[in-house]
Amino acid sequence: MKQRQSGKFFSFSLVVMFVAGVGFFFLSIVALGILPGIRLEQSIAENAPVNYRPYTEEQQRGRTIYAAEGCAYCHTQQVRFTPEDRRRWGPSTEPWETKYDSPHLWGTRRVGPDLARESEVRSNDWQYTHLYNPRYIVPNSVMPGYAWMFDGSADKPLQPARDLVAYLQILGRERQDLMANDPQQSQQIQANPARTLKGASGDVLTTLTLPTGDQQRGQTVWNNYCSACHGAQADGNSVAARSLLPRPTNLTAFSYDPLAFATILHNGVAGSSMPAWRDLSPQQVADIYAWLTTLRTKADNKALSTASIAQGAELFANNCTSCHGVNGDGQGPAAALYKPAPFDFLHQQPDAQEIDRVLRQGVPGTAMPPFPTMSAAQRAALASYVRSLHQPEKAANTHP
Ligand code: HEC
Ligand code: HEC
Ligand code: HEC
Repeated sequence: MKQRQSGKFFSFSLVVMFVAGVGFFFLSIVALGILPGIRLEQSIAENAPVNYRPYTEEQQRGRTIYAAEGCAYCHTQQVRFTPEDRRRWGPSTEPWETKYDSPHLWGTRRVGPDLARESEVRSNDWQYTHLYNPRYIVPNSVMPGYAWMFDGSADKPLQPARDLVAYLQILGRERQDLMANDPQQSQQIQANPARTLKGASGDVLTTLTLPTGDQQRGQTVWNNYCSACHGAQADGNSVAARSLLPRPTNLTAFSYDPLAFATILHNGVAGSSMPAWRDLSPQQVADIYAWLTTLRTKADNKALSTASIAQGAELFANNCTSCHGVNGDGQGPAAALYKPAPFDFLHQQPDAQEIDRVLRQGVPGTAMPPFPTMSAAQRAALASYVRSLHQPEKAANTHP
């Protein structure tokens, strides 16, 4: 009798446990799955911009390739709400941004950087070259190359590469547009327009004194970050250069004042594969600067003659000011149309040979045209004039 009672008790407790177990199972589905899902849908419906563009067919195919190739195993697409994340990649990801992402590709591991804000951070030629073989432009990268998406070289992308890059180039685009149209946020953007560097007190710098640079350290930094594109000797010859348009600049043919140099590194060159280098310290910038200086001793620049400068000034006024500006500062009336922007000759001075070469060949991939009808004497006169525009005295710590 006693035994039967305890048996009953156990079977009753089993039933209770079973019902409770199943109950909690469904409760957790509702609490952790369904309710957040509904809230997410509501939040997306309330906050997504009405004109949020859906993926085009090309971008959708790119997204499928991104998922199939497992890019998400190494890359997240989610900027977290931490200051570190925001500093590196911009505003934190909001739910509405994933409106068309089902299933989402947020990822959980960051072997490589977050890609949620990749839109227009890199140019297409950068993306193709990197996709073909990341080590062409990022020497120590552990990212695999995807050469099968190309017809034998990085400048011949096949459909999968084009789809994938089209997808990468819109990641975060809606958010960027939204910020640009928001008066408060766009003010923040305009408060620090590209091309100017600001001092500690927030004023726009007009000169810059770099710390004393160390050439040897500079060469090491160069080899880690710059040589893959610009070449070990900074002459613009590298494997990567074959698929980059415009080609990386031959930096041995230019002198820069420190402010111009630091500003270029801070902003990169819009419209080219030249990235912004905001993570370099002032010391590293000074070290690279010091190292580049050692490469410039070979330049053969004839003394500037007054006669040729006068002739050059006239040629310049007739042919060059629409882009390079009346005084050569790169701010001519047509300048705003072009990326990369016309060079500013007040702060960066090309060698005479380089000016001669550019006038014959132009700069493919930019608005700089060739001038095939110009005579050698005219080119020499222009070279003298353009070089005379340099105003190193306006900048401290001048490049020799
Ligand atoms: C084994 C891990 C790994 C895989 C898989 C991988 N990546 Fe990367 N990726 C990296 C690392 C590490 C970097 C940083 C170094 C570099 O730029 O190459 C990177 C950088 C990038 C960048 C540059 C981001 C920036 O602006 O600096 C892009 C774009 C990118 N990867 C796209 C992709 C795509 C698309 C795929 C899939 C086809 C992919 N990655 C697969 C590791 C990976
Ligand atoms: C992914 C390739 C790439 C890497 C890496 C790269 N550059 Fe460049 N860089 C370019 C290209 C392309 C241009 C040419 C832009 C143009 O024609 O306007 C350029 C131009 C420049 C210019 C001249 C810009 C001007 O307007 O006069 C400087 C200075 C420069 N790079 C410095 C550096 C330094 C220093 C590093 C390393 C910290 C570096 N670059 C890394 C591709 C690269
Ligand atoms: C249609 C606009 C335009 C006109 C006209 C123009 N330029 Fe340029 N120029 C540019 C642009 C854009 C660049 C930047 C190229 C780059 O980013 O590599 C440039 C760059 C240059 C460079 C440096 C190129 C290098 O990489 O070594 C020189 C030198 C130059 N221009 C001289 C001239 C002279 C001299 C004239 C007149 C005879 C002239 N330009 C007319 C747009 C123009």
